[in-house]
Amino acid sequence: MKGIQDSGLWRTRSFVDGQWLAGTARFTVSNPANGEPLAEVEEAGAAETTQAVEAADRAQRAWAKVPAAQRSTLLMSWHDLMLEHLDDLARILTLEQGKPLAEARGEILYGASYVKWFAEEAVRVYGDTIPGPSPDKRVLVIKQPVGVVGSITPWNFPNAMMVRKAAPALAAGCAFVAKPAAETPLSALAVAELAKRAGFPNGLFNVVVGTDAPAIGQVLTQHPVIRKFSFTGSTATGKRLLAQCAEGVKRTSMELGGNAPFIVFEDADLDEAVKGLMVAKFRNAGQTCVCSNRIFVQRSVYEAFADKVRAAVANLVVGDGLEEGTQIGPLVSQAAVDKVAALVAESEAQGAKAETVARVPEQGHYYPPTVLYHASNAMAAARNEIFGPVLPLIPFDDEASVVAEANDSEFGLAAYLYSRDIGRVFRVSEALEYGMVAVNDGILSNAAAPFGGIKASGHGREGSKYGLDDYLDIKYLCLGGMDR
Ligand code: SIN
Repeated sequence: MKGIQDSGLWRTRSFVDGQWLAGTARFTVSNPANGEPLAEVEEAGAAETTQAVEAADRAQRAWAKVPAAQRSTLLMSWHDLMLEHLDDLARILTLEQGKPLAEARGEILYGASYVKWFAEEAVRVYGDTIPGPSPDKRVLVIKQPVGVVGSITPWNFPNAMMVRKAAPALAAGCAFVAKPAAETPLSALAVAELAKRAGFPNGLFNVVVGTDAPAIGQVLTQHPVIRKFSFTGSTATGKRLLAQCAEGVKRTSMELGGNAPFIVFEDADLDEAVKGLMVAKFRNAGQTCVCSNRIFVQRSVYEAFADKVRAAVANLVVGDGLEEGTQIGPLVSQAAVDKVAALVAESEAQGAKAETVARVPEQGHYYPPTVLYHASNAMAAARNEIFGPVLPLIPFDDEASVVAEANDSEFGLAAYLYSRDIGRVFRVSEALEYGMVAVNDGILSNAAAPFGGIKASGHGREGSKYGLDDYLDIKYLCLGGMDR
């Protein structure tokens, strides 16, 4: 079966209350590398999502009482199963999403690292005692699970985005209902199979797959049992979902769009900066919210840096993610290719000079890695989140002007800077209006760090000790009469 060793991981039905649900209709999942159909998946909609939410409610009441150490052990078993089935999970991911197999393995390890992290954090949910305002009072603070969590996650990281929400939720004592993207439901269903094998109680972890996103989203944002909703995706969709959550005053975490600046100062190690840029730009073919979108290069080193970028990009191998040596896979759809092409055409009309890699497969949703020379912060490719392998190189003159340009965006997710001047590193890092700043590094995501943005990039943090708080309510206990 498509080279998958453990056929039990190839699932095409929603996972609700510990069962695989039969659907009345089906939708096709295709391989973006060649457009060929990959799987017929059974549709779930509002009714099945309601069933999942209600099962989660029943399971959560018991789960909240399970000792943290036991919750931690179950999460660890889930993590171990993910590593045991690394090859199969990576292959499923590449087949449905397109990223190169090595990168898909990296994503499975990345997702699993959050499960391990939160398995370890589950036993460290501390409260507080606070000096009271009078001799008779004591102030105690305890933390309790939020309850049932609904989530919607995107196609660009079909494993890690869902897993890094589910792991802290389950660790905190919550139950979880996931809705993965309809383009890439198979990775989430494979992980559900492993949750079943790990021994999580029925109903605690559910995956609902279907193409009617508005209907499913309505249940996940508005059902009275849902206490928290966590979303990763575009800012436009995030705003709609936030509005839906507002009606029931649900807690929310929103990991939305980005427009990351990548700043190269004249004192930077240019070779290191190019190395970092290749990862920050071309990871997942440029389809991540933290991909460098605007590359600002100080004018005095612009030509030297541009030559090094040209040489690095010329060597990129574009192709089917299952083929040995592929570095850049296809984009998710033809619509995505058309959108990137339109941004490049508009930027060229605005004065940029585009140069592309020559060899790209004819069949499949490919876009050639492209450098836009002499771009500006006002051009289409800089004003919009590209979500493709296009790299606009923008010259700048001084620190103050580049900080102003970098901050000139509604988004505030990730920013990157390269400099060997320690004073400048601190000044610029502090001045950048972003939730995450990488200094002399092209990859900032890891389980120990708080991932998340500000401004239109959303709120809430995933990973780190802060990530667990997103799934915990603070309760204050006021103890009176303590002096009698
Ligand atoms: C994203 O693109 O939304 C997440 C990327 C990451 O976790 O590094």
